[in-house]
Amino acid sequence: MDRILVTSAIPYINGIKHLGNLVGSQLPADLFARFQRARGREVLFLCATDEHGTPAELAAAKAGKPVAEYCAEMWQVQKDLSDGFGLSFDMFGRSSSSQNRALTQYFAGRLFEAGLIEERSETQIYSKADGRFLPDRYIEGTCPNCGYDRARGDQCENCTKQLDPTDLIDARSAISGSTDLEPRETKHLYLLQSRMRDDLRDWITGKTDWPILTTSIARKWLDDGEGLRDRGITRDLDWGVPVRRGDADWPGMEGKVFYVWFDAPIEYIAAAHEWADANGLSEADWQRWWRTDAGADDVRYVQFMGKDNVPFHTLSFPTTIMGTNSVGAEQWKLVDYIKSFNYLNYAGGQFSTSLGRGVFMDQALEILPADYWRWWLLRNAPETSDAEFTWESFQAASNRDLADVLGNFVSRVTKFCRSKFGETVPAGGTYGEAEDAVIADLEIRVAAYTAHMEAIEVRKAASELRAIWVVGNEYLQSAAPWSVIKEDEDRAAAIIRFSLNLVRLYAVLSAPFVPNAAQKMLDAMDCPADWPDDVRQALSHLDGGHAFEVPENLFGKITDEERDDFAARFSGTR
Ligand code: MF3
Ligand code: ZN
Repeated sequence: MDRILVTSAIPYINGIKHLGNLVGSQLPADLFARFQRARGREVLFLCATDEHGTPAELAAAKAGKPVAEYCAEMWQVQKDLSDGFGLSFDMFGRSSSSQNRALTQYFAGRLFEAGLIEERSETQIYSKADGRFLPDRYIEGTCPNCGYDRARGDQCENCTKQLDPTDLIDARSAISGSTDLEPRETKHLYLLQSRMRDDLRDWITGKTDWPILTTSIARKWLDDGEGLRDRGITRDLDWGVPVRRGDADWPGMEGKVFYVWFDAPIEYIAAAHEWADANGLSEADWQRWWRTDAGADDVRYVQFMGKDNVPFHTLSFPTTIMGTNSVGAEQWKLVDYIKSFNYLNYAGGQFSTSLGRGVFMDQALEILPADYWRWWLLRNAPETSDAEFTWESFQAASNRDLADVLGNFVSRVTKFCRSKFGETVPAGGTYGEAEDAVIADLEIRVAAYTAHMEAIEVRKAASELRAIWVVGNEYLQSAAPWSVIKEDEDRAAAIIRFSLNLVRLYAVLSAPFVPNAAQKMLDAMDCPADWPDDVRQALSHLDGGHAFEVPENLFGKITDEERDDFAARFSGTR
């Protein structure tokens, strides 16, 4: 498998994401994509904004903007933040793109042909004043359970009771306030996921190497009759992909759009099409990533997501793909591996977008550069259980790992060299026993690190990387070139040459975690970032006479005052 397709769950358009969202999909996906590129593989890394559905419409209404304008603006905001965090997407698309509209309509047509989409008639509330059917959450009224007078048609926010719009007392339209509502017959489309139960079960059963978190959620939904219910995939909204079968009208579906969860995963495919269009490439260029009948057989497709997204990716989207593949010549790729994450909590509670609790992507970058956040988040990724962000832990990881270990090593070695030998790799001496021991140790560690990264064991990879940094510090401490140089300049030269090679090695290995610091290190050493398949060779890469520069300080320390100040600033809500 020399080509790797990586997607991250696509973030909702409404609002800036918090660090819990970031570490749940986009950031680990970036880690993996960067690692695979560094290993020389051809990678296509895709993400997008998830723009349809009522949350987008409501957020736009709240901002007092037309929804298309709101989404365009928020896309730019999210794009800038993802750039700020160094998320190396090949395409950050939009689920509202014309490419996604066409693909969503195409898939719906195929699924209908395959007998997996059924039209069902149902009674729904129609608002004459608004001239439209109202989705449940667009109907407000008094809760029959607690008397709260702004309960929504799907749920009462006050007592959390699940409601039907017909349960509400004095129901009115949330759009116009009109009470002139009446039940009317209307048609909706249902995706018959339950018909795919056996195929889905067989498919999941074969995925013995998937994380338990992924397969256990998938199984729970497969085994529980409720889980694989046929799903309504149309909505009465203005904003969304208009319901059509391929290029043809869909009689009875006028004015309806597809449900956001139907078109959102299809955006994974559409983002590849957007990528091709944005780069002047052909249809074949993106289809070779997505269609096995068009050359995608050698692609390994890996998805990243939070655990709440797993059912949609193990049941609904595979139903779309398998169902489509059952008719027609096009054969679309199913995912090969799903990496899912638990939740990150914030200082004793939950991150919350609606409450504005925690640290959000924009705020994080205002405080400190991306690498500090990337390091803490990835090293504490909520893989086997939920994890918790605390300012103490953040301070400790930044100071102890980044500043004291990695940053300090780079700075000591380069500054010592500059003062004794100038900004050129010293040529004297040869590597001896001490260097051989480090090489032997690093051969094992680099192999372990590589294996963890291949297996997307994020925490294990982070701790191995840290251990690799520590090896250099310990070596430098015991080799003590500052004393040796007084007796034996050649020996000191060999130690420093070896250490400068370690700086380069660290830059290459660390780049997936801390890309900005790694780039500074590489720039300072003025050398390419080849992956160290052979550690001994990698550590002789820089020869005597090679010019380098002392890089600016890579990491500062977070003081106790700063830590307390951050904690206080972020203790309330946004
Ligand atoms: N927007 C969804 C969320 O943040 C994720 C959608 S992922 C995709 O939970 F499958 F729809 F693409
Ligand atoms: Zn209530």
